[in-house]
Amino acid sequence: MKALILSGGHGTRLRPLTYSQQKQLIPVANKPVLFYAIEDVIEAGIHDIGIIVGPNADQVKKTVLSRNWDADIEFIYQGEPRGLAHAILVARDYLGDDDFVMYLGDNILREGIVKHKEHFEKGNYDSSILLQEVPNPQQFGVAELNEDGKTIKRLVEKPKVPPSNLALVGIYFFKPIIHEAVRNIKPSWRNELEITDAIQWLIDHGYRVGWTKVTGWWKDTGKPEDLLDANRLILDDIRADIKIGTKARIHGRVVIGEGTEIDENTVIKGPVVIGKNVRIMNSYIGPYTSIGDNVVIENTEIEDSIILEGSEIRNAGRIVESLIGRGVKIINGTSHPFGRKLVIGDNSRLIL
Ligand code: DAU
Repeated sequence: MKALILSGGHGTRLRPLTYSQQKQLIPVANKPVLFYAIEDVIEAGIHDIGIIVGPNADQVKKTVLSRNWDADIEFIYQGEPRGLAHAILVARDYLGDDDFVMYLGDNILREGIVKHKEHFEKGNYDSSILLQEVPNPQQFGVAELNEDGKTIKRLVEKPKVPPSNLALVGIYFFKPIIHEAVRNIKPSWRNELEITDAIQWLIDHGYRVGWTKVTGWWKDTGKPEDLLDANRLILDDIRADIKIGTKARIHGRVVIGEGTEIDENTVIKGPVVIGKNVRIMNSYIGPYTSIGDNVVIENTEIEDSIILEGSEIRNAGRIVESLIGRGVKIINGTSHPFGRKLVIGDNSRLIL
């Protein structure tokens, strides 16, 4: 079996971060979201991985290749994001006649895919999908089951009136018949080749589509609040791993990278992950915070937030539930005229 991991698209709902960074590369608990997908696939024993890349292809390649993976990884250029089924069309030669799992690179699944892969293989399905009950099905692909409560009747993409609360998780198993399906569907109202339509084609033509329920947590990290949520869920599971000597007062589970300096006037309450070569002085770092490499924090309280690499935060008061991009400077100025002096990128959100 091969894997096709999607790391294309524009990530419009995560602007301004995605003006300079491909969305699947944004770190959660200091690890790019895309790496969780690659790890899941390798854990399931799949070592041939094709990664779909789009507008920021070079950035994705560089980041993925910065690690040694136990897998052969190929990058497949999609260009403009014309839909999840379009990604399969583009990957036709790479996939050949193998079964494959398609994994959306912005999804994180706590339980991994091992048991879902087993279900697909043992049941000899033509496709198998993952479903989870959600409170907001309008924002996902939604499955309607037949009266037997077992087989799938219909799939609809982001329905205004959802037929159920069973959302499609962004992980799909396929036999090669899916290639015929994607060739036979038409673009949707949003001008994309929808994977839900391709799977519906399989159902309508008598192919067997199975499903499994996701029991642990699952996050589609499409929006800033989803990234913060995923960060909380991942940090809930981290183990304390303080390798450096520090005079700071540390409570709970805290991971600290090499070369990081934290002074004795700082208090850190886990779960917290701090990257390499970070400097934290006279500050408070509260639960559910991830701080990237080379960040400087002085005289500031930060809680429940993600701070990406290279940012500087000085005398900034209290920062909560925030997602702060790379190389950002937040400084409390002391020169006249007083007031907030802002240089903020397009589509930023400031809640003051
Ligand atoms: O996360 C689960 C949902 O993912 C499903 O419930 C929906 O049925 C499915 O359509 C999809 O919905 P999204 O609106 O979240 O899809 P999005 O456009 O955000 O794309 C998902 C990922 O795939 C994202 O990481 C970008 C990447 N992508 C997307 C498209 C359309 C590509 O690489 N190429 C593409 O052409």
